[in-house]
Amino acid sequence: MAKSITVSAPGKLMLLGEHSVVYGFPCIVTAMDTRMRVTVEFCDGDTDLIITPQVKESKFVTQSLKLFKNKFKIKQAVKIQTQGDFSHQVGLGSSSAVTVATFKALSELFNKSLSNKEIFDLSYSVTIAIQGVGSGFDIAAATFGKTVYYVYGGKVIDLIKTEELPLVVGYSGLKADTPTLVRKVKADYEINKNRVTGIFKEITLLVNKAKIAILDKNYQQLGLLMNKNHCLLQNLRVSTPKLDAMVKASIKAGVYGAKLSGAGGGDCMIALVPLEKRTEVENAITKVGGSIINVNNNAQGVRLE
Ligand code: PMV
Repeated sequence: MAKSITVSAPGKLMLLGEHSVVYGFPCIVTAMDTRMRVTVEFCDGDTDLIITPQVKESKFVTQSLKLFKNKFKIKQAVKIQTQGDFSHQVGLGSSSAVTVATFKALSELFNKSLSNKEIFDLSYSVTIAIQGVGSGFDIAAATFGKTVYYVYGGKVIDLIKTEELPLVVGYSGLKADTPTLVRKVKADYEINKNRVTGIFKEITLLVNKAKIAILDKNYQQLGLLMNKNHCLLQNLRVSTPKLDAMVKASIKAGVYGAKLSGAGGGDCMIALVPLEKRTEVENAITKVGGSIINVNNNAQGVRLE
């Protein structure tokens, strides 16, 4: 039977530190067990066959394949098929997961034994080539999994020892365009460098305290830090009335803390929730028009299926 390899990689959720991470400050990201699967096999002829349900994914697969083939001077045609647990609409990192899974699958198919760090570096260069901007935190989550303290470009990738965090994830119903929001913050930064840098530094203090709170399982403290991070993101003008309403409703329902997660402008918010309050919080988020995404966090990184 023809050799066929299937690999999967997880999505991600930004816990704290979005935007400031683009400027060299740290963030904390957790991997979600909604996974993208990539299957690769050799195919006859000299034309590669790429089958992806979403056009957006196909760019990432095509670019990854091109880079891999150039790097290893490969001529052999391949068939690549992707399949996902989650829609690219919700901003949970399907592009980074598919990129990481493609490199890992090709590495297995051609016996290249790429390390996770090599997979990270290759995937990050694909993201930058396609999107032009990005810290690579999503690539780190897809590659290494778990919960990671991360600095821009993979300068620091430290796994934080934790169990799954008691998170509720609410989708605002609006797809955010991350590069647009990153550029919006950049425009603000260029006009008002001191003000924006001040916000980034405050966020960094929260991120560093949050790392300790996670290690200590001090969810009360972690929640407060998340609330403060949300306020600073409001000051950066990346939140939306809908995200604010979802955060506010969840706080009223008794969470430890809540914030938007990711670039803002739409996509998701997260709430850290005491077990007994979970249903109440989910109802509160739904009541203001959010929808609940059921996902586990602290998930395993890229793996052979
Ligand atoms: O919108 P998301 O979930 O892809 O998160 C973007 C996070 C930013 O810090 C704004 C950008 C980045 O690449 O780190």
